[in-house]
Amino acid sequence: MKRDILSVCDMKDDLEDIIGLSIKLKKDRTIKFSDKKILGMIFEKPSTRTRISLEAAMIQLNGEAIYLSSKDMHLGDGETIGDTAKVMSRFLDIISYRAYDHNMVIELAKNSSVPVINALDNLEHPMQIVADFMTIYEKKGKLSNLKMAYIGDGNNVANSLLLGASITGMDISIACPEYHNPDKEILRKAKEISLKTGNNIEVVRDPRTAVDSADIIYTDVWVSMGDEKEREEREKQFRPYQVNSELADYANKNYIFLHCLPAHRGMEVTDDIIDGIHSVVFEEAENRLYSEKGVIYKLL
Ligand code: CP
Ligand code: NVA
Repeated sequence: MKRDILSVCDMKDDLEDIIGLSIKLKKDRTIKFSDKKILGMIFEKPSTRTRISLEAAMIQLNGEAIYLSSKDMHLGDGETIGDTAKVMSRFLDIISYRAYDHNMVIELAKNSSVPVINALDNLEHPMQIVADFMTIYEKKGKLSNLKMAYIGDGNNVANSLLLGASITGMDISIACPEYHNPDKEILRKAKEISLKTGNNIEVVRDPRTAVDSADIIYTDVWVSMGDEKEREEREKQFRPYQVNSELADYANKNYIFLHCLPAHRGMEVTDDIIDGIHSVVFEEAENRLYSEKGVIYKLL
């Protein structure tokens, strides 16, 4: 049976195995498919990292990738996502989809006979989380018994980090303004998983509470793709949530700083933090390539 990865929950039983495989693929570039596989990548939103890393991953694995801007497909002029999925499945071995609406990703997967990967939507960004936890593992040598502080918007990345933290047994403290909490249902699922793994989860208002004794500080943009109309209001509301040296002082001495990128320097993070000695953001970005190789290799 084909397997889709639409949520971090779809890696509930083997996230750490996928990370292990990704690390193996990073060390050994000779591992490839025995026959050529083709990935079709639908993008409704812009991308630098996800598009390039998926494409490079396929090339390194002896496959190919086809970039499909949704604007240049019939999706935009009335063909349903279901019909699109049925047709694409007949040409391709695997499909990735960056969408505005999580329900569209679910609908694509339901109608596709080949595996579907969520390449970011309004609710989650599962591919990012594989690279993030891989980077944390490389730097800290473990995933459980660490504390992550996520500062800023309770968005798609925050939702996926919550699930990843529960699966791996990492404590997570999210500091966000009121009305910008992570998704309620995701929070419920994360808490349900934490009953088994025993990690602590909290959502707080004061970023200093979250960063207190943290091993990892993570932030993301204040204005996600699709939220542009709220830019002015968000930039005001999120101002106290900037990751700067004053805030980072509350973390453990050997903390690492992560950001999924793109970063808006001077907004959610200051230059001295993102360019500082604790920052691993470019290694994290590089790991998008190996983690995507890991996910695709596993699915195919
Ligand atoms: N982090 C991430 O997904 O970046 P892109 O939007 O550039 O793909
Ligand atoms: N939260 C951001 C992540 C970008 C990779 C967005 O959805 O725009």
